[in-house]
Amino acid sequence: MALFVWSDGYSVNIMEIDNQHKRLIELINELHSAMAAGKGKEVLGKTLQGLIDYTKTHFAYEENLMKTHGYSECSQHKTAHEKLVSQVLDFQKKFQAGEMWVTIDIMNFLKDWLSKHIMGTDKKYSPFFNSKGIA
Ligand SMILES: [Fe+2]
Ligand SMILES: [Fe+2]
Repeated sequence: MALFVWSDGYSVNIMEIDNQHKRLIELINELHSAMAAGKGKEVLGKTLQGLIDYTKTHFAYEENLMKTHGYSECSQHKTAHEKLVSQVLDFQKKFQAGEMWVTIDIMNFLKDWLSKHIMGTDKKYSPFFNSKGIA
């Protein structure tokens, strides 16, 4: 995986959420660097945990905002988040059990995991939130 670089194409037109997405990208890049540097299981495990923790924080932030403002696709969006979390927890479980390692395939998976969600699901809420004065 090449470095996962933020571009304006990922923007959802809400500054706080863009910043959170940038942080998630940074965490994926940190995991990638740790992998590329051949770091051990402990370092990789901690980095992965950091990514999972911040993912949960970010998803909760979006869900709270959707709920507060009565976004009509809130429940579908929440379901998509749950699926993403379970995918990454599944990987973590295998990683901890020594059944899977952090590989370039996993990094590409995480890159897709985040970028497809931003482009396909998150971007749908932009007009709604912008119309509520959130930007
Ligand atoms: Fe998001
Ligand atoms: Fe989302």
